[in-house]
Amino acid sequence: MTDNFDYDLLVIGSGPGGYVAAIRAAQLGLKTGCIESRETLGGTCLNVGCIPSKAMLHASELYHEAHSGALEKFGVKLTGAKLDLKQMLSEKLKAVEELTGGIAFLFKKNKVDWIKGRGAFENANTVKVGEKSYTAKNILIATGSSVTPLPGVEIDNDKHVVVDSTGALELPKVPGHMVVIGGGVIGLELGSVWLRLGAKVTVVEYLDQILPGMDGDIRKDAARIFKKQGFDIRTGTKVTGCTVKGKKATLTMEPAKGGDSETLEADVVLVAIGRKPNIDGLALEKSGVETNDRGQIEVGHDFQTDVAGVYAIGDVTPGPMLAHKAEDEGIAAAEFIAGQQGIVNHDLIPGVVYTYPEIASIGKTEEEVKDSGTEYKVGKFPFAGNSRAKTNRDTDGYVKVIADAETDRVLGAHIISSLAGTMIAQVTQAMEFGATSEDIAYTCHAHPTHSEAIKEAAMAVQGKPIHI
Ligand code: FAD
Ligand code: NAI
Repeated sequence: MTDNFDYDLLVIGSGPGGYVAAIRAAQLGLKTGCIESRETLGGTCLNVGCIPSKAMLHASELYHEAHSGALEKFGVKLTGAKLDLKQMLSEKLKAVEELTGGIAFLFKKNKVDWIKGRGAFENANTVKVGEKSYTAKNILIATGSSVTPLPGVEIDNDKHVVVDSTGALELPKVPGHMVVIGGGVIGLELGSVWLRLGAKVTVVEYLDQILPGMDGDIRKDAARIFKKQGFDIRTGTKVTGCTVKGKKATLTMEPAKGGDSETLEADVVLVAIGRKPNIDGLALEKSGVETNDRGQIEVGHDFQTDVAGVYAIGDVTPGPMLAHKAEDEGIAAAEFIAGQQGIVNHDLIPGVVYTYPEIASIGKTEEEVKDSGTEYKVGKFPFAGNSRAKTNRDTDGYVKVIADAETDRVLGAHIISSLAGTMIAQVTQAMEFGATSEDIAYTCHAHPTHSEAIKEAAMAVQGKPIHI
């Protein structure tokens, strides 16, 4: 296809959006290059996001189980379980290295050129990296996102006192007291890691509830479960400043609605108040592409910007900042660029919080359905009535299914369960196929599995579950 360009497609950024798009484009016969400023491929997700956080969540859960005596009721007596944090961090690094190295292998296998360095537009068909310029018929911006700074709270990951998620994934010792600013996904996942490893963890959240955007019942019940685990959650509170003296930080906070301020001492402060699109240094203006008032790049259904031949996907565009959304958009964008039809159903992007228990969500929340004016029915089934969860002593949580009262079509599902992240795929697929709650209720589910709770919640929509 090249038409005198160096490439058919140049991708800027090798996160789950960019690397997947590059591989798909190469598979479809396009001459493809991928520019990455980081030393390794894989973006935020593989280097400092999804992968290292899940490695630490898994390892910290194992430590907690072994150390807390939780296994004794199963007849497993352990004495002297000790934390070797250095080893835990090194195993996490190994997983990151294996996976980022895997992308380099896939690039070679698919003949994608890895162009090392920071890319900046020269025009809508040219990107400069260092001293060299590369031309391409199509350019895909997949530069991702980085942490939103909080004025008055300066992050310095190297000092291990005020950190962002990257710093919180490599603390050299367990803090006595960690204060997390932001009761969202990062705050609760990484707060869980350090809570399990022995820290006292306080979460300071500006809004009245944690986990914004999730179903109201789930937000309330998740907070109750986290508090039971030992999280100190302070909602409706804003941080107004932070001073650091040596290895201690002092935060100043006040009620979000105004009132007396108070201070809170911390050994580590984790700033996790959201992420912002990466557009700095990209010289976007030279391409003609503009951003919206949130700094995001708007695209059409084919992921093309207002400038022909310039595309964008993933965290740099509107929508949930999730790796699987970026990946699916990467595949679809590559397919559009190759002249095919790409498909992403943005109404059905699952969201999972990998705490214990996990929290997973698909489709609309009850609040969204109510606001839309649609008449609806709700079916709930608690894991206390699920035989496998009971056997595993793992009964925190429930499945909530929301269906259209008239058509019975499933509009949303929300799950709190140790296996919620895996279970949500079933409802997502059912919803993709336009399933009714009756379709799910009459689908045979293996016994004994946690997934039976989805069937029973669907039966509950019709008022007839068996086990409650
Ligand atoms: P990114 O992964 O951010 O990749 C963009 C890449 O572009 C980066 O490597 C960057 O170095 C590079 N880049 C930027 N500008 C330039 C330039 N000018 N030139 C060259 N290269 C450039 N999502 C999930 O779905 N599940 C999870 O479990 C999950 N856990 C997370 C945990 C943490 C701690 C964090 C921070 C995020 C997590 N996320 C998770 C979110 C997920 O990481 C992002 O949604 C995803 O990485 C976005 O992919 P992307 O391709 O858009 O961008
Ligand atoms: P978030 O948007 O999930 O949560 C940020 C929280 O901070 C919100 O509850 C918000 O109300 C609160 N907040 C904002 N300003 C505040 C202030 N000044 N003081 C106190 N609280 C304040 O953002 P988070 O946790 O930083 O994660 C960023 C993104 O990374 C998310 O959008 C998520 O999509 C992605 N991510 C996904 C994961 C997953 O899929 N499991 C894991 C980690 C991150």
